[in-house]
Amino acid sequence: MIDNKTIVLTGASSGIGFEVLKLLAQGKGNRILAVARHVDNIKYFADNVTAWPCDISTREGVDALFEKAEELFGKIDIFYANAGFPYYEEFNYTDWDRIDAMFRTNTISPIYTYAKYIRHLDGREGILAYTVSAIGEMAIPGYAIYSSSKFALNGFQEAIRMEKPDNLQITCLYPVATDTNFFKVANAVEFEKPFPVQKPSTVAKKMVKGIEEGAERVSPCGLFGLSKVLMGALPPVKTVYLNLEKAKLERFKEKLSVYHDRFHEKADKAREELEEKAAKAREELEEKAAKARGELEEKAAKAREEIGEKAAKVQEEIKDKIHGV
Ligand SMILES: NC(=O)c1ccc[n+]([C@@H]2O[C@H](COP(=O)([O-])OP(=O)(O)OC[C@H]3O[C@@H](n4cnc5c(N)ncnc54)[C@H](OP(=O)(O)O)[C@@H]3O)[C@@H](O)[C@H]2O)c1
Repeated sequence: MIDNKTIVLTGASSGIGFEVLKLLAQGKGNRILAVARHVDNIKYFADNVTAWPCDISTREGVDALFEKAEELFGKIDIFYANAGFPYYEEFNYTDWDRIDAMFRTNTISPIYTYAKYIRHLDGREGILAYTVSAIGEMAIPGYAIYSSSKFALNGFQEAIRMEKPDNLQITCLYPVATDTNFFKVANAVEFEKPFPVQKPSTVAKKMVKGIEEGAERVSPCGLFGLSKVLMGALPPVKTVYLNLEKAKLERFKEKLSVYHDRFHEKADKAREELEEKAAKAREELEEKAAKARGELEEKAAKAREEIGEKAAKVQEEIKDKIHGV
């Protein structure tokens, strides 16, 4: 059990982070700054938890988070950079913003956090924890950008271990597929998860234990370690596994194209209906305008006639008066 620690935990509102939060909040004397962009569900989680909304994908966000933690705790004993998100689809989109957001959240933010944290520690002891990913060690189809963002983070932790000061422990988590909101965030259209799938509570327990024991890496799924050895020794096993994942992506692409076709069909139908309604409304308006114009012209002609009559009458009266004089 981790006790008497001041802790910053990002991505604390859901999934793995939320399960880690539950465990850390039970530790005697722990104080936790629990962070996500939306923190309504953890606002009143426990007396020793301060929920704080913060977007860690920006420099300003991370700077503000350190300021907040320093104001609350003074020293941060454990900084757990867990927040991250995926995207699942064949990589054929030219969406700069999506790539940018994924790298800022999954890679740049935790790297920048390291630099901020060693400065904050200033020689005192501390623990930096990262949630990397099994996909950060073995790429699978459909997750090209997510996978590369986690490979980069993995490369960073590997390099920085050779530079880091002795007062800093770095513990990295390598989950396989874990049943969290991750897969809902990854695409609005449902898809098949990679095999195997673990519960977030199982993953969180192993990570908290790993942090406590000073582990460098935590692989919560024994099968992943075993399969890495097996795939290294017998490459065809890896080919079979990756072919299964490729087949999942192919099925997803078919599903997505049906979904897109249906979406376009619906959009075309809605557009047609709207255009029909607009044409009808225009016709009705034109009819009304023509009718109003006709009525107005009639009234104007009548008024003109009356005025003419009145003018003639007045003229006659004037003539009469002149003759009378
Ligand atoms: N589930 C898996 O299969 C799996 C496998 C390997 C690795 N991982 C990694 O595990 C970590 C946790 O993911 P999860 O599976 O627990 O997914 P999750 O249930 O979707 O949780 C993600 C958490 O991160 C927060 N978050 C996302 N973007 C953020 C931002 N810009 N600023 C602050 N907080 C942010 C989310 O809250 P808000 O949206 O409110 O900000 C949420 O609390 C991620 O790094 C993920 O890449 C997951």
